[in-house]
Amino acid sequence: MSSVMARASRLIGRPRAVDAAAVLGAVPVPVVLLDAENRFRHANHAAEQFLGISAASLAQLRLEDLVPTDNPLFMLIEQVRRNEAIIADHDLTLESPRLNKRGITVQGSPLPEEPGAVLLVMQDASAARALDRQLAFRGAARSVTGMAAILAHEVKNPLSGIRGAAQLLESSVAPEDRELTVLIRDEADRIRGLVDRMEAFSEKPIARGSVNIHRVLEHVRKLAQSGFAAHVRFVETYDPSLPPVWGNRDQLVQVILNLVKNAAEAVTHPGASHPEITLSTGFHHGVRVAVPGSSTRLDLPLYVCVRDNGPGIPDDIRPHLFEPFVTSKSSGSGLGLALVAKIVGDHGGLIEVDSRPGRTEFRLHLPVITEKESDL
Ligand SMILES: Nc1ncnc2c1ncn2[C@@H]1O[C@H](COP(=O)(O)OP(=O)(O)O)[C@@H](O)[C@H]1O
Ligand SMILES: [Mg+2]
Repeated sequence: MSSVMARASRLIGRPRAVDAAAVLGAVPVPVVLLDAENRFRHANHAAEQFLGISAASLAQLRLEDLVPTDNPLFMLIEQVRRNEAIIADHDLTLESPRLNKRGITVQGSPLPEEPGAVLLVMQDASAARALDRQLAFRGAARSVTGMAAILAHEVKNPLSGIRGAAQLLESSVAPEDRELTVLIRDEADRIRGLVDRMEAFSEKPIARGSVNIHRVLEHVRKLAQSGFAAHVRFVETYDPSLPPVWGNRDQLVQVILNLVKNAAEAVTHPGASHPEITLSTGFHHGVRVAVPGSSTRLDLPLYVCVRDNGPGIPDDIRPHLFEPFVTSKSSGSGLGLALVAKIVGDHGGLIEVDSRPGRTEFRLHLPVITEKESDL
């Protein structure tokens, strides 16, 4: 057996060690390596062309021989050495009797094995701009619509599998577990609904109907407790006499889910004690809510609160809370509250926030069905 292996390895051969200099030589971007004294230890072919000096001549030179020492390039190199970090500078001018380069982008990286050595990668700004344009063009081609279509296609197939499997399980699982299979099926349906909407990429008016907000809250609570908020205590104080909301059920699930998810993330930080989320609903009898920045007053008699006992919204986030991509989480998208704000706005509702350490409350004000709409 071992002789077979030996033969095989002789036949295939071990991978040859690749010469780093040869690799650098083939890189089509000017790269030079400076040692701790700023001597040119290496320059690839692209760098020779870029600087107009052969590698052999460069090997005799120091950076000071090419560029005046007051050039910002020296500061960049010092920063790379001091911080041992990659630093880039844009729009540098490298001007001297031997050189005349403007609008250069230089990126400097430290070499961990060689103290003081700095690898410089250079690029003409015009080349960088061309690259930018190309990327922008590619970005446009892969437009949101295209992405939506691909995503919809890719998501729908496995989704119908998941739904089918849940349905099959439903008939064979113990009654107390049936709730979970129903949950899987309902959520699969909800994703399908979202994907369908994305696919159509419609800014069309949403399909609205009569929605029991307590069912929405219950649904989200179950989802949360069987998943991301398993260790959180939920307190529910609902007003059972509440009329139905005039809205879109799936979108309202999305809103509450995002709020509960944020609340759960806020209360489950390390060191949190007694994590708790309170869901409540109520009716402001005859109360109208002022629309900020206008004299309009909306009749939004129903409110839904999601409250948590977490540390509160960070001060720096607060002014931009509902803007997209605003997040304090290392892997956050910052899209949750932007989406919440959009959906609530589409519903003609309002959202308010009250936050201090130990108590953060998001309060939604939503329209209820009026006589006219219930006639539809
Ligand atoms: N209940 C909450 N408690 C504390 N901070 C919150 C709460 N909800 C939202 N935030 C803050 O608002 C930011 C934006 O939230 P969101 O738009 O949902 O994006 P993400 O959850 O991806 O960070 C969060 O990163 C967090 O800093
Ligand atoms: Mg979020």
